[in-house]
Amino acid sequence: MSPHLEVVGLVHHYASAQSLRGVSFSLGQGECLALLGRNGAGKTTLLRCLTGVYDATGGEIKLNGEEIGAWPSHARSRAGIGYVPQGREIFPDLTVGENLQVAAKAHGLKDPGVEREVAQLFPVLAEMRGRRGGDLSGGQQQQLAIGRALMGRPKLLILDEPTEGVQPNIVKQIESVIALLKGRISILLVEQYYDFARTLADKYVVLERGAVAASGLGADMDRDRVSQFLSI
Ligand SMILES: Nc1ncnc2c1ncn2[C@@H]1O[C@H](COP(=O)(O)OP(=O)(O)O)[C@@H](O)[C@H]1O
Ligand SMILES: [Mg+2]
Repeated sequence: MSPHLEVVGLVHHYASAQSLRGVSFSLGQGECLALLGRNGAGKTTLLRCLTGVYDATGGEIKLNGEEIGAWPSHARSRAGIGYVPQGREIFPDLTVGENLQVAAKAHGLKDPGVEREVAQLFPVLAEMRGRRGGDLSGGQQQQLAIGRALMGRPKLLILDEPTEGVQPNIVKQIESVIALLKGRISILLVEQYYDFARTLADKYVVLERGAVAASGLGADMDRDRVSQFLSI
């Protein structure tokens, strides 16, 4: 069986500056892979290439063995890739419920059961359903951003620094939701917070200056001294 996601020799440039220098890794069905590295290492750029926000300049992106590197982002989303961008990017003027329903519509889903499932994972979204997204705390907005990605029933969920600027009690809630999802769906997690990544990761990849500097099993992260590659 092909891996769920396979990235082979991925290259990306911003104008003349090379940001990804031949990145390769794979993610099996139901696995959680932590993508780690300091600020500026190229993590967000890599995710944007995977989700089709940017076009890679070289290399391959395979989903279940099929090359998707030339697909527009909506097609990748339809193929089951859910994306929670860094900085959340929820709609601040829409209510929580509207934020979730906009996501459902984008996926053509009319099943009202999906929002109920999402609200079971993040009860605060049901409690705050009528509030403006912009009125939520940073941690609640992050829960909404993840909830929005889950409205499309993704098979592969890509999260860019979901704990950034989030208070510790909500970090714990997000961690338990990802732990619950893992196994059912595949997870690609970009993270700076070592303990969070260490708890969830089956595998890890460290990026430095756009290239893979280290990789291995999540269980070996302490032995491999992965924390030396992070900012904190
Ligand atoms: N829009 C952009 N234009 C030019 N350079 C960029 C742009 N976005 C990011 N970069 C540069 O690309 C490199 C990787 O950035 P990024 O992918 O955001 O890193 P990370 O997410 O690991 O912090 C950095 O050197 C950054 O300055
Ligand atoms: Mg980033």
